[in-house]
Amino acid sequence: MTTTLDRDVATGRSPAAYIVGWDHLELWVGNARAFAAFLASDFGFDVVAYAGPETGVTDRVSYVLEQDTVRFVVTGALGPASPVARHVRAHGDGARDLALTVSDARGAYYSAVARGAVGVREPWVDEDEHGRIVRARIATYGETRHTFVERAAYDGVFAPGFGDEGLPPRPVGPDVGLRAVDHCVGNVERGDLDRWVGFYRRTMGFDQLVHFGDDQISTDYSALMSTVVWDGSKVVLPLNEPADGRRKSQIQEYLDYYGCAGVQHVALRTDDIVTTVSALRARGVRFLAVPDSYYDDVRRRLGDLDLPWDDIRRLGILVDRDQDGHLLQIFTENVTDRPTVFFEVIQREGAKGFGAGNFKALFEAIEREQARRGNL
Ligand code: FE2
Repeated sequence: MTTTLDRDVATGRSPAAYIVGWDHLELWVGNARAFAAFLASDFGFDVVAYAGPETGVTDRVSYVLEQDTVRFVVTGALGPASPVARHVRAHGDGARDLALTVSDARGAYYSAVARGAVGVREPWVDEDEHGRIVRARIATYGETRHTFVERAAYDGVFAPGFGDEGLPPRPVGPDVGLRAVDHCVGNVERGDLDRWVGFYRRTMGFDQLVHFGDDQISTDYSALMSTVVWDGSKVVLPLNEPADGRRKSQIQEYLDYYGCAGVQHVALRTDDIVTTVSALRARGVRFLAVPDSYYDDVRRRLGDLDLPWDDIRRLGILVDRDQDGHLLQIFTENVTDRPTVFFEVIQREGAKGFGAGNFKALFEAIEREQARRGNL
């Protein structure tokens, strides 16, 4: 049963004040069955719920996948008129919804709208025998959405309309150990970074964590600017804008293929990146190749850190340090057909940064390799 709620809440608190944490990330894809199977087999997610014609949903199918606190929903269209089909045609497979668990979906929604957010769907309630769930939806960059999810009074598997019967069997493979969404990066159009940072600060009530200028994240060939905003607790959203280099910025390449602003990568946190990346590689995940010269550099820069350097080099893991500690990270190849969306795996040992040192070191290392081949 679905009910629409009237506007009847105070809007003195910012949306951020209602946020509990990440609820889920919903991907709209061309083939949900196959993409869900890919996340299960390669990344070690468990399929925990399904919605489709068998559960009373008529225009789409969705699979819910979980690993510790990370939850993805993968949705595909059942016909050409579906907005999912139109979205996939325009953008390829991509992230549609960065859904946030909130204490009060009506409060978060009306606070956001009062502060200038574009409302996509007013607060609504769904109920079944497991309780009630209140949701509301606003627009953010490109065609991306934030759904506010109030689920304290719901104890079903995901939401009304989802079931847990007839799920695919769990693929065989070593445990991966992904624990949480660390951050989720959006790429916005050139000139739009300030506007979207302003949206998160003024409309959503987020704080700015850090800003990297194009002098900090650039090589001679590719450049970008990045500002990180967060809700002060768990939801960390770096935003990138392309900048001029001698060649096309990797951010511009994303925008050209995606067709507008959108989610570039989702970083997933592990407590033990060597075990996680070993498992992911054994399961078939492909990562960006790191040239040997990167490790010669990084041992010079960070060789005093007590790390399993042989494993790190063998697995292609990157290392960076800031004033608070160090971090280990690795980037997958694109997981979509278009060169748009990828995943990051990150282990933080105190460091609160995002590997800006790696961007420069990695790309300069790649360019050195290119130069050695006479191709630069
Ligand atoms: Fe990242």
